[in-house]
Formats: sequence, structure tokens, C-alpha cells
Amino acid sequence: MTSKLEQSIWLRFLSGAVVAVAITAASVVIPGAQAQEPAPNASDIADGMRLYQQKGNCQACHGWAGDGHKSDSQMPDGANLRETKLNRSGLITAIKCGRLNSQMPAFDKFAYSDGRCYGKKQADLKAYPTRMPDPPATLQQREIELIADFMIAKIVGKGQMDRAKCVDFWGAETDACKVLP
Ligand code: HEC
Repeated sequence: MTSKLEQSIWLRFLSGAVVAVAITAASVVIPGAQAQEPAPNASDIADGMRLYQQKGNCQACHGWAGDGHKSDSQMPDGANLRETKLNRSGLITAIKCGRLNSQMPAFDKFAYSDGRCYGKKQADLKAYPTRMPDPPATLQQREIELIADFMIAKIVGKGQMDRAKCVDFWGAETDACKVLP
């Protein structure tokens, strides 16, 4: 016959074991679930490319190839996005929130109204000598994700643009490609 004390020690041990198993199971399951971002399909990537070129007008400062050869000489020099070290979520933050004290605009309409971006509000932005310009248009979260996925598929880490990559990028030989080596 086990004593009450022994029983309670056993119960504690067992409930501890259950918790341990649950934690192990959760840590196995959760990263798997996070990895299941639906892979962007070709039509998503085409949508992202259109948003990059038109609504976001990213190419005005970053160039159509994202290499910093801007399409509008009057615009500020954008970063070379082909060489960025940012991952998907870093790209999304940069597009939503812009870059403080730089010419990279924030594309989220509410970027600086509720502290969602770097914990800053409109009034805090006055502290920076370089003011972020207004974006050419604001973008929805989904549009920002489409641009990020387009960039990952076609721009980030792809090396310098050359003729073959250019034809692949546009899906056909274009005038932009003819000038490339
Ligand atoms: C008015 C010019 C301008 C426009 C328009 C613009 N950018 Fe930028 N962008 C910049 C500048 C300048 C920087 C460099 C900021 C800095 O100094 O950190 C930058 C930085 C970035 C970065 C961070 C790169 C890194 O490695 O840190 C990303 C990502 C980016 N831009 C994406 C975009 C996308 C996508 C769009 C369109 C939706 C866009 N930008 C539109 C000027 C612009």
C-alpha cells in the first residue's frame, strides 16, 4: 500500500512528464506550421512585379532590376536590392515602415499612427534630419507580401543583371536586355 505522500509525488512526476511531452510536441509542430507559407505561384509573382513597377513605383529609386540603377534621375538613390541581406519579414518591414532617417518611404498607410513601425509615431519622425518622402501610393499588407515574394523570386541574391537573366526576368528579349552583356 503506497502512502498518500508517495502518491502525490507520483502524480507530480506524471503531470510533469505530461507537460514535458506536450512542450516537446509543440516545439516539433510549431516550426513546421510556420514553414507552411503558401508558396507564391507564377501569377502571384507577376502581380508582385506589377506592383513593384507601377503602384509602388519602386523602380524610380531602385531600378527595374532592383540594382539601384534608378529609372528616374530626379529620384533619390535607392539601395541595391539584389544584394540586400534582408529575409522576407525584413523586406516586408522595410516596405511597410520605410527606413527612418532615409529617403525610403513607408508604404503602410498607418505606419506611424499607432506605433506599429519601430514603436514610432508621426511626431517622433521630426527628430530625424532626413525625412522619409511620402510614398507614391500606400499598399495593403497583401500587396506588400506580393512585392516581397516577387523580390525573393527575381531580385534578392540573384547577382548582377545580365542578358540571360534579363530575358528570364521579362519573359522575352526586350530593349532593356539588348544593352546588357
Ligand atoms: C523615393 C525613393 C524610393 C522609393 C520610391 C522606394 N525606395 Fe526603397 N529605398 C530607398 C532608399 C534611399 C533606401 C536606402 C535606405 C537606407 O539608407 O537605409 C531604400 C531601401 C530599401 C530597402 C532596404 C534594403 C536593405 O538592404 O536595407 C528595401 C527592401 C526597399 N527599399 C524596397 C523598396 C520597395 C519594394 C519599394 C516599392 C514598394 C521601394 N523600396 C520604393 C528609396 C526608395
